[in-house]
Amino acid sequence: MRFDKNLLVKLCKLSGARSIASAVPELRIYEVGPRDGLQNESKFVPTDIKVELIHKLASAGLKNIESASFVSPKWVKQMSDGVDVMNKIKRQPDVNYPVLIPNIKGYEIAKKCNIQEIAIFPAGSEAFSQKNLNCSVEEGLKRFKEVAEQAIKDGIRVRGYVSCVLGCPYEGPISPKAIAKITEEVLDMGCYEVSLGDTIGVGTAGSVRRMMQEVLHVATPDKIALHFHDTYGQGLSNLLAGLEFGIRTVDSSVSGLGGCPYARGASGNLATEDLVYFLYGLGVNTNIDLVKLVEAGRFISNFLAKPTESKVNRAIADRFKNNHDIIAIASCTT
Ligand code: HMG
Ligand code: MG
Repeated sequence: MRFDKNLLVKLCKLSGARSIASAVPELRIYEVGPRDGLQNESKFVPTDIKVELIHKLASAGLKNIESASFVSPKWVKQMSDGVDVMNKIKRQPDVNYPVLIPNIKGYEIAKKCNIQEIAIFPAGSEAFSQKNLNCSVEEGLKRFKEVAEQAIKDGIRVRGYVSCVLGCPYEGPISPKAIAKITEEVLDMGCYEVSLGDTIGVGTAGSVRRMMQEVLHVATPDKIALHFHDTYGQGLSNLLAGLEFGIRTVDSSVSGLGGCPYARGASGNLATEDLVYFLYGLGVNTNIDLVKLVEAGRFISNFLAKPTESKVNRAIADRFKNNHDIIAIASCTT
């Protein structure tokens, strides 16, 4: 299906847009669709489809696209073609294509693919660390420190994740103080920012606030990103809670794809289309072409033969399909 851009009539000037827009002039979106979005899919997505998805996301205006992971293919087969993906994508000079790295072996493989940025991912819970990395939190931190040191020596930027920050599928609630402590350790490794992952999407605005109050004892807001899975539909309100604390980077996944094979009950990430629509409404500049983004979401959902998880994508596509000539897009022009 092709969308005619002329059909878009920008409406909705949401109340409050001016005040939030002046406090949050711009928000950095870190797209995780090609990695987090696809890693949990049982049907193998051919390399060319992954590459085309990355190209479509870049063409929609996304500047940070986590494109592959170099984990053990015995653990996540879907991500086993990381080398081919990284070698096949036509990189745009202003786009960052980070990759996920579990250990020094993965790093050495990725390094040969001309990477500029990696992401490491210790867990905030002991049980999840065992399931996801086959080692304790402490051992994981040791391994990731080795990876980070090597990458920094090689001139490669390092981003850190901490997973299960708002709850663990095996241990339940996680103490905000514990998350602050591990965040500090990850920053001490030289990560330029730490993305706090609600891996199973159980957080609420209240639990985000409690966590942020602790985390901001050890880091300034510019060092923190938020990564929400949207299992309970709380992703956007959780983000709003984060924005109140000065957070300016958020992770999301096109079409709301995502999940972790080792986190029981994890569902898709906050959908990038929903995020962009939300930000337009707040008057926050994203420089994303929502129509192209919706097309990228349709492309991958159609390939996977599953409905999109993004309500914005569904609403926009339905309007076009039914030939309605008006579509409500929250406008960033106030
Ligand atoms: P292990 O089995 O303990 O590792 O797994 P091992 O060192 O014993 O190696 C086992 C085999 O894998 C060996 O092969 C290794 O060579 C090979 P064999 O000798 O049997 O033929 N191997 C590798 N091959 C290629 N690349 C590698 C690699 N490493 C080992 N890098 C390991 C330990 C960490 C490797 C494993 O547990 C693993 O790969 N885990 C990753 C699981 C994963 O990808 N989870 C999803 C990502 S995390 C996430 O989604 C959360 C996040 O989005 C944030 C949030 O939502 O909160 C980031
Ligand atoms: Mg995730």
